[in-house]
Amino acid sequence: MEKLIVANFKLNKTIAESIDYAKKLRPLLKKCKNKVVVCPSFISIESMVNSLKGSNIEIGAQDCAFAENGAYTGEVSAKMLAYAGVKYVILGHSERREYFNETCLTINEKILQAQKYNLIPIVCISDDGGAGYKKNIKKELMLMLAGIEKECYIAFEPKSAIGTGNEMELKKVQSIVRLIKSESESILGSELKVLYGGSITKQLSSEYLACETIDGLLIGGACLNVDDFAQIATNSNIDKA
Ligand code: PGA
Repeated sequence: MEKLIVANFKLNKTIAESIDYAKKLRPLLKKCKNKVVVCPSFISIESMVNSLKGSNIEIGAQDCAFAENGAYTGEVSAKMLAYAGVKYVILGHSERREYFNETCLTINEKILQAQKYNLIPIVCISDDGGAGYKKNIKKELMLMLAGIEKECYIAFEPKSAIGTGNEMELKKVQSIVRLIKSESESILGSELKVLYGGSITKQLSSEYLACETIDGLLIGGACLNVDDFAQIATNSNIDKA
């Protein structure tokens, strides 16, 4: 089964570094059987879209505005991103919730904006699976998914696993991914696809990708090295041979 592998550059790489990354990544993924999305900073999007034209790699954004246009200094809208060639957008990342006070309601508005312009949202849930996690995940999904209609991915990224080297153990990930799928089905009428993210390395990636319940990976730290990211994206090809 084809999986979705997403690179999240976060606050890293200049325009020149992003172009260099794109040029190196393109030949490495020529035979890749997975869908691959790279999410650079806003400022590098146009250059990366140009460098990757005609390849099998799509560009995503790390956020979008909750409004379409207007007096929102510093924001970038889903419409602007769509016209720049962006196909996916990460929304509600735990770092956006922590440092920019994003709530499930704002994230819902962002998802609706993204879908209006045919961007595919990758919506993050950062619950750590501690006490009350089932109730919390259900509540977050109800708020964030209200009124959504088109294709959408959920990225399950436990906060304690992000950038820490403490990935959540596969069994626990699988059970929470199953919960997210069944809750999304009861809200929307059909299951959403669910990615896992949090301290995935090239060494760990095949084990997580080999698991049928997990539809792909969201990679932070390990994507910054282009060879490591290419290896993660192509690793699972072996399983399908
Ligand atoms: P990490 O980050 O791979 O560095 O843990 C994942 C993410 O925050 O998307």
